Formats: sequence, structure tokens, C-alpha cells
Amino acid sequence: MTMRAISVAVFGGGIIGLSCAWEMARRGARVTLIDKHQPGQGATYAAAGMLGARYEYTVEAHPHPKLQEIGIAGADLWQEFAAKLQDVAGCEIGYKDGVTYALAPDPYDPDGLEVLADRFASSGIDVDILHGRDFSDCEPGLSTRIAGAVRIPREGQVDNRLVAVALLKACRKAGVSIIENTQPDTFDTSAFDAVLWAVGAAEGMASLGVEPVKGAAFSVRPTENYPKSVLRFAGNYIVPKRDRVVIGASEEAGERSQRPDDEVIGQLRACAARICPALETAEILETWAGLRPGTPDRAPLLGRLADGRFIATGHYRNGILLAPITAQIMADMILDGKTSPLASAFAADRFMAATP
Ligand code: GLY
Repeated sequence: MTMRAISVAVFGGGIIGLSCAWEMARRGARVTLIDKHQPGQGATYAAAGMLGARYEYTVEAHPHPKLQEIGIAGADLWQEFAAKLQDVAGCEIGYKDGVTYALAPDPYDPDGLEVLADRFASSGIDVDILHGRDFSDCEPGLSTRIAGAVRIPREGQVDNRLVAVALLKACRKAGVSIIENTQPDTFDTSAFDAVLWAVGAAEGMASLGVEPVKGAAFSVRPTENYPKSVLRFAGNYIVPKRDRVVIGASEEAGERSQRPDDEVIGQLRACAARICPALETAEILETWAGLRPGTPDRAPLLGRLADGRFIATGHYRNGILLAPITAQIMADMILDGKTSPLASAFAADRFMAATP
């Protein structure tokens, strides 16, 4: 007897929804993906594409105890995911398993580098310090006043916009039906075996504890004067890509407008120009803003609610990094009823009771 393939409706065509849809279709499910606009145009478009588990979850505050573990496991999946995606979609996605340089909170203070390196060491992450000339030989376009940098190996990036294009192609090739410009509440899911909500910071997710954290950013044309690797400093970053250099990003909690504020972009430019002087006068190619789906512990919600809906959202600053591991976790859960101990640390309903 042939088994009927399980049917799954996925709401949300950002990198999380697309990756989950592709993974489930590859495993034999009949998948329909519904986006309220066009896939890949929300936070996925606005991201910088850093695969920054080691930096983000060491230096930034991360109250969830398993965030670093899922982040590093997620980063480790990217190489294979990227190769498979490029092969299936037949297009480049800008994957680089390179290094990231982190500057000290005061970039001109050499002592700050030791403190920063110690934080990585105490998280079990191998880094080294490049002082003065050693760093400027690697990144000659930066201010000569910078004391040096902590070099974080295996902390690369992808081009998030190319990934979205590739995932859409891969989904189509795997038989996923894509329905655009459709609001979730107008789509009848009664005929589906399972429904996955991967709608980022959409208003309907507020009852799960997800709030938008707006990030505004800008880009300039690539020249010799900009970093060659990802650079992190003072909560911000410069990410060089083939056709643009991305400088981000603000953190504006609770803000739903996706229009970048000129003053915020000006502050970002001034901060980045202290590190990379060419940015002071560079012609801006594009400014934009996206809404990160933030949860109270800054960790994703991955699981099933009592009403039967599966949820994959709340990836906050790291939807790109965590897409491949989220796809595996959700496909295991939805298609095979399996939950790993790591996945169960991110239960989707963990903030429901606390949210009025
Ligand atoms: N992942 C970078 C950001 O959210 O700004």
C-alpha cells in the first residue's frame, strides 16, 4: 500500500519558511507556502547575512542558556546547506566560511582586546588577537588609530538576498506550491495535515511573546577602502559583499515602521566612519529597515502549540544563521514527530502565560 504524503501549509516566505518548506518537500511532503506579499522581501531582505554565532552569542547579551549551542550547531550546517542549495538552484549564494574581526568596545584601546579575547576563551571559542600593524596589514582601509582586532575563525557570511532567490527556486523544483499576496487569515488550511507559522515579527505573533525590533542599515559600492572580512564594533558591523558593502544596524524595539530614519542612518554612518574613514563621504547605494522577531530571551520559538499549530519564529538577529538547523528541527517534528533535547529547549509556548 502506498502511503499518502503528508500535506503542510507554511505561512511566511522569509528564509525560515522557505528553508522549512524546502526541507519538508525534499523529505517527501506536499508543501504549500503562503506569503502575504512576495517571499524573501521582509527581514530576510533586510539582513546582513552574517553567520555570526561565535560573536553574537558571546559578546551580545543572550539570556537563553542554549543559544550558543544552537547557534554553533546552526553555523556548522551552513557549508553543506550552501553547497546543496547552490547545486539544486543552480545559482551562487555568496557563502564564505571566512573570518570575522571584532574590535574592542573602545577600538583604540589595546587592553580592551585582551578582555574581549578572554570572553571568547571562557566560552570555549578559539580566537587570536591581531595587534596594530598585523591587523592593518589584513584590513588596510581602516583607521590607523584602531588598536587591533580579535580574529574569530569560521565566522563567515552568505548573501541573504541571493539565498532567498535560490531557496525559492529550490522550493519550486522540489514541488512546493508558492502562493503570494495572500493574508494567512484568508487561506483555508482545513485540508492540510499540518500548519507551520514562520511569519517573523508579524502582529499575530505578539501573543507568543514576539516583538519587532527594527534594524535600519545602508549600503555603499564596494571599493578597496572597505573591509575585506566581516567587521564587528560597538554593536554595529560592516559586511562586504560582491556588489555592496552593508553597514548596520539600529536596534529599535517595538517599532513597526519599515522606513529607515535619516537620523538613525546618519548616526550609523558616523559611528562606522570612525572605523572606516571612507564611509564619511561615500555615496549611499540603498537604505532600508527590517523587523527582527525578538523574544524576551532573544532565542527562537520552535515547536507546537496546544491548538496544533507548529511555530518557527523569534530568531531575532540570527534568522539567516539559524535557517538550516530550524528547517531540520521543524521537519523532524512535523514529519516524524521527533524532538531533540536541543530543540525542546526552545518550546514555542514558553512565553504564552507571561504575555497578557
Ligand atoms: N544580524 C544582524 C542584525 O540583526 O542586525
